[in-house]
Amino acid sequence: MATAIIGIGNLGGTVARELASGGEPVILSASSQAKAKKAAAQIGSAASAALNNRDAVQRADNVVFALWLDPMREVIDEVADLLPGKLVIDPSNPVSVAADGTLTRTLPEGESSGELVATLLPQGTRFAKAFGSMGATMLASNAFRQPQRAVLFYATDDATAASEVQRLIRVAGFDPAPAGGVAKAGRIEVGGDLHAWGGLNGRLIDIDEAALLVGPAERASVVAK
Ligand SMILES: NC(=O)c1ccc[n+]([C@@H]2O[C@H](COP(=O)([O-])OP(=O)(O)OC[C@H]3O[C@@H](n4cnc5c(N)ncnc54)[C@H](OP(=O)(O)O)[C@@H]3O)[C@@H](O)[C@H]2O)c1
Repeated sequence: MATAIIGIGNLGGTVARELASGGEPVILSASSQAKAKKAAAQIGSAASAALNNRDAVQRADNVVFALWLDPMREVIDEVADLLPGKLVIDPSNPVSVAADGTLTRTLPEGESSGELVATLLPQGTRFAKAFGSMGATMLASNAFRQPQRAVLFYATDDATAASEVQRLIRVAGFDPAPAGGVAKAGRIEVGGDLHAWGGLNGRLIDIDEAALLVGPAERASVVAK
């Protein structure tokens, strides 16, 4: 198994480091191969640099698009024919960030980027929303938390995607918890009730609290673990 990370900025770089430190082979693709090579060298032997975005997707089973929504649309278009049969993970939030850190929504209220990205993917691609439910700094400093791991929520409509994204969340040092289907992706995006920059108000939660916050259908699968 290998996971491609496309976009090695704040979030993509953090996810790449965490997956690699958990033993997942990661294939990095940036806006230039030089940037991908530099990031791979910093991460170490679990990371390799792709020639370009298409090469990264070709070599991977799972693809994390750690991109803002506009480049996300372009990159999905660029690699679309290679995606069927793979798991796509979308960590994006529908916001832009001003120089002073102010966040502005880039999608209408009530429309999530997870729902939007799901519609851009070709048939046969498995899809999960994950790894974007807290800031990159918080993600970087809370992997493998003791005595109880912190939770990362995911949203998907696909049972196979659910087990694949659960594995990756565990590899990255967190406990996975389902927020619901793709229609619930907004719950784990900025401003959502299960996002650190939303209803969780900067708090990390553990699996017991997550079980209380998700819906009854999801609660059954949290408790069953
Ligand atoms: N940062 C966070 O705390 C955080 C938390 C949760 C979710 N997210 C989400 O994660 C996504 C990325 O955020 P970020 O903070 O990581 O942004 P970022 O630091 O600006 O990183 C975005 C990266 O995408 C790269 N990129 C742009 N076009 C590309 C292309 N065609 N091919 C390959 N790479 C390309 C950029 O490379 P160049 O700079 O070389 O153009 C940049 O390294 C956003 O959707 C955001 O909402 C971020």
